[in-house]
Amino acid sequence: MIESNQWEPEIIAFCCNYCAYAAADLAGSKRMQYPVNVRIIHTPCTGKIEMEHILEAFEKGIDGILVAGCLEGGCHFLEGNLRARKRTDRIREMLDEIGVGRERLKMVNFSAAMAPTFVERVKEIVETVRALGPNPLRESVKV
Ligand code: FES
Repeated sequence: MIESNQWEPEIIAFCCNYCAYAAADLAGSKRMQYPVNVRIIHTPCTGKIEMEHILEAFEKGIDGILVAGCLEGGCHFLEGNLRARKRTDRIREMLDEIGVGRERLKMVNFSAAMAPTFVERVKEIVETVRALGPNPLRESVKV
């Protein structure tokens, strides 16, 4: 059993190849500090992130997910981020229905130059999830 004082949130940030990943990369280049709780998964476009990818990560016990794409109107695949927004909203509703909580999933949009905003959003989701506590599905994963 995980002791509550040992638990640290595990967060995934799905970052699209263009703006979001570039913003994360710029944050790294500028040596901007952000929590180590976040693992970045590089994706071609947020439109390529299927509902199954997100739900499976929660089923496996991940505590929070950030879906990070280009600014609306700026997706390099035209409407990928708009489709991702709809999927994310739908999954957030499902997370509430199953008692996991919608706050554990958030979609954010960046331009490639928005490294400080990227860092802020990462810090926000880590603090939000830390306040919520471990993913309730985490215990059932261990059984
Ligand atoms: Fe960035 Fe589509 S390429 S969201």
